[in-house]
Amino acid sequence: MTSIGIHDLALATTHHVVDLAELAEDAGVDPAKYHIGLGQDRMSVPTADEDIVTMGAEAALPLLQRHGTDGIRTLLFATESGVDQSKSAGLFVHELLGLPRTMRVVEFKQACYGATAALQSALGFVARNPQERVLVISSDVARYELGSAGEPTQGAGAVAMLVAADPALLEIEPVSGVAARDVDDFWRPNDSTTAVVDGRLSLTAYLGALTTAWDDFTAAGGVGIEQIDRFCFHQPFTKMARKALTGLAQHTGATLTDELQEATFAYNRELGNTYTASLYAGLASLLDHDDDLAGRRIGLFSYGSGAVGEFFTGLVRPGYQQLRRRESTEAQIAGRVRLGLPAYRELHGAEHPSDTDWEAPSVTEGAFRFAGIRDRARRYEATP
Ligand code: HMG
Repeated sequence: MTSIGIHDLALATTHHVVDLAELAEDAGVDPAKYHIGLGQDRMSVPTADEDIVTMGAEAALPLLQRHGTDGIRTLLFATESGVDQSKSAGLFVHELLGLPRTMRVVEFKQACYGATAALQSALGFVARNPQERVLVISSDVARYELGSAGEPTQGAGAVAMLVAADPALLEIEPVSGVAARDVDDFWRPNDSTTAVVDGRLSLTAYLGALTTAWDDFTAAGGVGIEQIDRFCFHQPFTKMARKALTGLAQHTGATLTDELQEATFAYNRELGNTYTASLYAGLASLLDHDDDLAGRRIGLFSYGSGAVGEFFTGLVRPGYQQLRRRESTEAQIAGRVRLGLPAYRELHGAEHPSDTDWEAPSVTEGAFRFAGIRDRARRYEATP
């Protein structure tokens, strides 16, 4: 059988960053609560001319520069911070990147799980025709109410992945364990720009989905836990992944130490929650920071509130180090411009109704920008 998986992946984030130490000090909270208690250092914040489309296009650009567009017939865009109720954000990206006209483009939604649904679907497209390659883009802006418990777990970012036969990075194995349950742990009503969340319930729903998905993985013929060399979990904040590994160890009786996932945290500590992109930003961090992965098996757990979970595994391909983008990713993260709290709060509260023409100020230094709203439609452009 043809091996199929992630041939390449790249990450993009925003122009601005907010330091959680500043947020803690302003709120009269011990900064250690955020740094250690949540495992977060900073959070990316989009400018008025950035959104899921600009980040998604920015993440996908280096993949196309490296591999071209041959065989790409499908673009799957996963997000839970969609910019339109009807049109896929992927179509804006398709135009910005000059992708071929002969393509299918669609948006996937199920909270943070959407990218895994897109990835699994991409594997199916390639299994049907191994000549085809699929561009999967996950991109999100995580927003909670100012002053809420969720505020320090905001963030923004995108990960683009090229899914292909005979992949250079990670072969995804066919067995998956899945879990679904209708639960009100986190959602975002149509008339709200911020998520509604029951924080406590969200933690137990995440851990419950993990054990259900693990049991299903085992029942479906998945490998034993001792055959998994590294773990990579969805990271709404990195401490959650530590709780997940502890939960899995208790559930299975295995001894699992944080060394098995430590290398997955570097990017998400900086970006904050990137919802659909979070698991794959964790994977990018693992591939970039661990030199001893060739031939090793990674166990991945994807969680999306509401709630759906999936546990699956991938085998790292020999030579994966040659495709890494650690330098450019670190430069992008380090190059973000600090946003003071008053400006952050002003940006957080800014709303632009879709029935009024509006021109976005030019701020971002990324490759693409949201130009504003004209004739009720969103306009995007490459930056000069
Ligand atoms: P909270 O009430 O601020 O936090 O809410 P807390 O009081 O529970 O403290 C957090 C941790 O900091 C605790 O650690 C404290 O002990 C520790 P724990 O006991 O849990 O290990 N702490 C300190 N540590 C060191 N020094 C100190 C100190 N003080 C306290 N001085 C909560 C936390 C996560 C609930 C909140 O931030 C929240 O509601 N976040 C949003 C929801 C969320 O991220 N849920 C995660 C699971 S659901 C999910 O992953 C899906 C999601 O990504 C969305 C989607 O699927 O679309 C969110």
